[in-house]
Amino acid sequence: PHNVPSLCGIPLKYLSLVTLAVQNSALTLVMHYSRISTPADRAYSAATAVLMNEILKGTISMIIAFCRIEPTPYDIPHRQSILDRTTFKLQRLWRDIMSPDCWKLSIPAILYVIQNNLQYIAASNLDAATFQVTYQMKILTTAAFSVLLLRKKLSSIQWLSLIFLAIGVAVVQIQAGAGGHNSASAVIHAMKPMKGFLAVTFACFTSGLAGVYFEMVLKNSQTDLWVRNVQLSLFSLLPALAPIIVTQQIASNAGEGLMSVLFANFGAWAWATVLVQVLGGLVTAMVIKYSDNILKGFATSLSIVISFLASVALFDFHLTITFVLGSSIVLIATWLYNQNPSSARATLSINKDW
Ligand code: C5P
Repeated sequence: PHNVPSLCGIPLKYLSLVTLAVQNSALTLVMHYSRISTPADRAYSAATAVLMNEILKGTISMIIAFCRIEPTPYDIPHRQSILDRTTFKLQRLWRDIMSPDCWKLSIPAILYVIQNNLQYIAASNLDAATFQVTYQMKILTTAAFSVLLLRKKLSSIQWLSLIFLAIGVAVVQIQAGAGGHNSASAVIHAMKPMKGFLAVTFACFTSGLAGVYFEMVLKNSQTDLWVRNVQLSLFSLLPALAPIIVTQQIASNAGEGLMSVLFANFGAWAWATVLVQVLGGLVTAMVIKYSDNILKGFATSLSIVISFLASVALFDFHLTITFVLGSSIVLIATWLYNQNPSSARATLSINKDW
């Protein structure tokens, strides 16, 4: 096809999938390190990080959306000044963002804020590799919501691979529970695997539902991806602010300034986590647009291998037979799942009134 969107000749579809795989590994490692490298009482605020993520992502999306508006000569005559063009583009952007259907983004926005907060709990209580393998359960929830909401059809091989996926995750989980991780960092920051596991499980549900919901909104309308991202970030602001308002209550009681409470211990690693997460949000949106949520699962499971090896090198993570076995099952299941992706990509149910 001639009009495949691409950058430097590489189709955006593949570029975004590969970037997502690398970003996912980087996020797992950077977030884990940023959490466990200090004692719990000197940890930075996850709520602040989630809010910063949304503000940055929303701003970047807004700039991209603004640049993508191309006024036609019909909209605005050629010899108009830059100021007139800018005013026109700003008005158009405002109109697009405030579209009557923008409220649809409130649902994935709330779910993603919950998920992003849960991710920090999980990263604080599980070692990086266990967290990432367990997080693969979101392929399962994504499939379930794709079938329910997008009416996708899965082959029996794909259902089978989903069962294998669950088994693989369970095997990895057994070794984590048995104290298979032997991280030197655990001495600094005590981890609670059960708490971490519950956080991941819940995050898998919000991930599947929010991802599929976003795909449904995006593919059922003509609205630009970047405008949708701005809408998503705007609706995230309120739930992301909620925990911070509570913090302010505490801060005013304790007589401390809000800023010093919000950004306490917010060092370079915290900012690095936020930046990698911003990149992830932008790339995830592109993957959902140019591929779909099911292929997104494939990209992220590739990142297991990357984080795996990095974890051994960086965090003194000891590979056990159970861990290798469980992870292999997860990878094989993912490969099996993607053997016949065309059957999984049934037509979307286009219903403008939902
Ligand atoms: O793990 P999962 O792939 O569900 O994570 C999706 C991440 O991407 C979330 O952190 C979410 O905030 C972000 N995202 C985004 N913009 C989108 C879709 C997802 O920032 N349009």
